[in-house]
Amino acid sequence: MPANPQERIVRPARNITGSLRLPGDKSISHRYGMLAAFAEGTSRFTNFSTGADCASTLDCMAALGARVRRLEDGAVEVTGVGGHVTPTDQPLDCGNSGSTMRMISGLLSPQQGSFTLVGDESLSRRPMGRIQRPLEAMGAHLALTDGHAPIVIEGRELKAIDYTTPVPSAQLKTCILLAGLQTSGATTVREAVRTRDHSELALKAFGATIERALDSVSIIGVQKLHAIDAIIPGDLSSAAFFLCAAVLFPGSNLVLDALGMNPTRAALLDVLATLGARISVLNLEEKNAELVGTVQIKAPAEGLGSIFIRGALTAQLIDELPVLAAIAPFTSGGIRIRDARELRVKESDRIALVVKNLRAMGAEVEEFEDGLDVPGGQTLHGATIDSGSDHRIAMAFSVAALRAEGETNIQGAESVAISFPEFFDLLDLVAER
Ligand code: S3P
Repeated sequence: MPANPQERIVRPARNITGSLRLPGDKSISHRYGMLAAFAEGTSRFTNFSTGADCASTLDCMAALGARVRRLEDGAVEVTGVGGHVTPTDQPLDCGNSGSTMRMISGLLSPQQGSFTLVGDESLSRRPMGRIQRPLEAMGAHLALTDGHAPIVIEGRELKAIDYTTPVPSAQLKTCILLAGLQTSGATTVREAVRTRDHSELALKAFGATIERALDSVSIIGVQKLHAIDAIIPGDLSSAAFFLCAAVLFPGSNLVLDALGMNPTRAALLDVLATLGARISVLNLEEKNAELVGTVQIKAPAEGLGSIFIRGALTAQLIDELPVLAAIAPFTSGGIRIRDARELRVKESDRIALVVKNLRAMGAEVEEFEDGLDVPGGQTLHGATIDSGSDHRIAMAFSVAALRAEGETNIQGAESVAISFPEFFDLLDLVAER
């Protein structure tokens, strides 16, 4: 291994086998952490996300008066502020986390006081106008910097709205719901494509009443939240890297225990099944309205087929698209992706970086404004990968590297800690070399 922790060499593998239990889901951990910090009472979470992003949420909420304790057994205990945060002169540092910044903006807009939200270089480039528009329609005051962070919020009483989101975004939906929770009247969010519904389920688990229809969700404020105890299911978006690695090796057999199986997150399993993977889901149970199960996956003996991902499917798979694109050369018929413009405004421009890195590994790929076409039946060679310090790019190309000829050098490999610090260690556990 090179001495530089920012680089990681990934060697080809012969097979993927074994059984893993993954750290807690990032989306659920953000929501449980934020709601617990806002609620009345003390919540306790087992298997809370180990990623830096969720630590940013907890740190921001601690700076606003919540008490956060990491217990010896690894659990996280959060004592909430009972609906009223304490303003702080210090900027709230959201780090690399778009979820933290967008969701906390909705939580703080109806609070008393002024708040400044900052983020790292990547987060400071990401679009924040999408939250400013609905919050201002509710009467909030948010000053952005050219459409981006830093964000300065002057808290005030808001009025309820009925809002149709212009982009499919669970972060945006959550931002509005968290403002609506504290605003009298019914706040409704309508979305053309149903995005992940962890906020709706979490709000209910913390005792809020929330009405759901096919394409909308409404919350009537003002409501109080109450502490919960929960075990957080394993992160399906982290599992995606292992599932995609497993389908590359005939003879593979991978079992992932206690994995989040929320239907608004599980589209990847359908896609891998369409590509030919053999998947079984066992022990399905519901915990705090979230589905949890054990997934077993084996590669198809006859190789992977092809798929065209577009429309609603693209939105449901948004975090899994980089790794699907990275394994596409190893399918027989290739993978085409469209309607994925949102990928350009994630932690990096994920379309540009996927294209650049696939080409670095010798693949043929065509780039579109809203997606890419990767033909199948290709062989890749090891290369130096520019992750752009984007955790999902670093992990996606570590997976492609398993089937490449020669070694791959992942630059910016430390970024995996944003969502999944254990990634390389667990990959070494299941990759037979
Ligand atoms: C997330 C929603 C998605 C996703 C992100 C986590 C969430 O972002 O890409 O990793 O937890 O709500 P958008 O809401 O911007 O689509």
